[in-house]
Amino acid sequence: MPPSRMVEVVENGRRDAMGLRKVDSRASITEADDLDLARLPDRPRIKIERKRSFDERSLSEHLAGGSLRQVDSVESIFSLGGLRSVLDSPSSLGHHSFEPHPMFAEAWDALRKSIVLFRGQPVGTIAALDHASEEVLNYDQVFVRDFVPSAMAFLMNGENDIVKNFLLKTLHLQGWEKRIDRFKLGEGVMPASFKVRHDPIRKNDNLTADFGESAIGRVAPVDSGFWWIILLRAYTKATGDMTLAESPECQRGMRLILALCLSEGFETFPTLLCADGCSMIDRRMGVYGYPIEIQALFFMSLRCALSMLKQDSEGKEFIERIVKRLHALSYHMRNYFWLDFQQLNVIYRYKTEEYSHTAVNKFNVIPDSIPDWIFDFMPNRGGYFIGNVSPARMDFRWFALGNCIAILSSLATPEQSAAIMDLLEERWEELIGEMPLKIAYPALEGHEWRIVTGCDPKNTRWSYHNGGSWPVLLWLFTAACIKTGRPQIAQRAIDLAESRLSKDGWPEYYDGKTGRYVGKQARKFQTWSIAGYLVAKMMLEDPSHLGMISLEEDRAMKPPVKRSASWTI
Ligand code: GLC
Repeated sequence: MPPSRMVEVVENGRRDAMGLRKVDSRASITEADDLDLARLPDRPRIKIERKRSFDERSLSEHLAGGSLRQVDSVESIFSLGGLRSVLDSPSSLGHHSFEPHPMFAEAWDALRKSIVLFRGQPVGTIAALDHASEEVLNYDQVFVRDFVPSAMAFLMNGENDIVKNFLLKTLHLQGWEKRIDRFKLGEGVMPASFKVRHDPIRKNDNLTADFGESAIGRVAPVDSGFWWIILLRAYTKATGDMTLAESPECQRGMRLILALCLSEGFETFPTLLCADGCSMIDRRMGVYGYPIEIQALFFMSLRCALSMLKQDSEGKEFIERIVKRLHALSYHMRNYFWLDFQQLNVIYRYKTEEYSHTAVNKFNVIPDSIPDWIFDFMPNRGGYFIGNVSPARMDFRWFALGNCIAILSSLATPEQSAAIMDLLEERWEELIGEMPLKIAYPALEGHEWRIVTGCDPKNTRWSYHNGGSWPVLLWLFTAACIKTGRPQIAQRAIDLAESRLSKDGWPEYYDGKTGRYVGKQARKFQTWSIAGYLVAKMMLEDPSHLGMISLEEDRAMKPPVKRSASWTI
């Protein structure tokens, strides 16, 4: 394994020397009313789509009872002013930024080799094609979250069919009855991964899927459904084909996912309560409760769903629930998860045992529980959404994915987005290091590691999920950099990746404080490391791709108060 039958190179259309199909990336996007952003003397002209497309139906429009109101797109969250000023400066990107690197063609080649066929049709990409590794585990499967950067690369290259097939195939799997032992899972749960098995006797392909019943820890992947909705919107945005999203099957699929996370219960917070290991960090790592990764993906998928749900009898109710939830969620996250120097000082001086509505320390966080490292780590300039907030508990760790998604979904206000980027610049050594990007910072060590991970030998300090560096995150980082008008930072990170990634055989992750060592148990030819690099490169070359994964700020969600100086740069 993997059998050569299952993984085949799929040739699709005309390609140039780089393995790229020649497509006009804008041709298919919904009637782009492009605005000339920057004229770069010796580079392709960069344009960003400025016209509101179907997905920018704002929250305020929904609040106004569906009557469409023109939204001033001049203050678009694409940070056009910022992007223009950076791109206008000749030194900003370095002369080599848009020249193809030999790794680019190699990465396309590797990505194509990872394509999985089902009855002759491409339906996804395998997690890792590591021939050297003896243990296949489940790396021969198509993971929903892993396929997202692959899908972005294909969409950017005009290869839309594989993405459509994937969306339909996973939608079909969602319809399966899911059980763990005698317990039946919710209808809307999407699989973590699926596998294509070839039956050589019947000459047929069959699918098996994992909804958590085979996963380590037996946790359902909460992120899969969110990624599915986000990808459906990216597909629609990239192709201009609204028929898929509007089909009764996709509308139902969305509603089933939403029904799972919008149901009413005992919750007192708008954030989504979940178990450890239910997302990219799929092992016990103290990310239970209200982890930032899930909250950011939840927020983004709610916004994506809002743009795609039909106002029909079934959709209407969900739209109303989404609008209310988005309001509450953005308020909660922006206020209680946000940490910067000023806020840290406020928490440091918290009184405890406060009762009633006047409480300042609402969750009764005891200042003694603030870890020592945060006092030195926190720069004067910058801030971020912390890992988790629940009663008497703040997890101060930095998580890259959640913070990038917060920027891209506009969960972060423009000021907060800028502050997150400031932090990344101020703490470059710690958060980017020698190989972008740290998944989480800092690592859990000693007693804490024992208690929090349950002595997990794979998650030892500065390894894997526990402070390891994951090249896949490069694409989300690059998107966040472009959105905040700092493409030069992305370029710096890509340069680092280019110095080693291919030579090291595209590892899944790196270990060590600065990410210097190839991960202890890292797979080689990990598809999302390959795709993440490709997407980062293509986005930097043509920032209009950003629209696929970025949502403009919705004014209706503006926070009522400014909390600290780092918000008002
Ligand atoms: C690991 C990662 C998970 C990923 C899977 C397949 O389990 O933690 O996020 O989806 O590998 O690559």
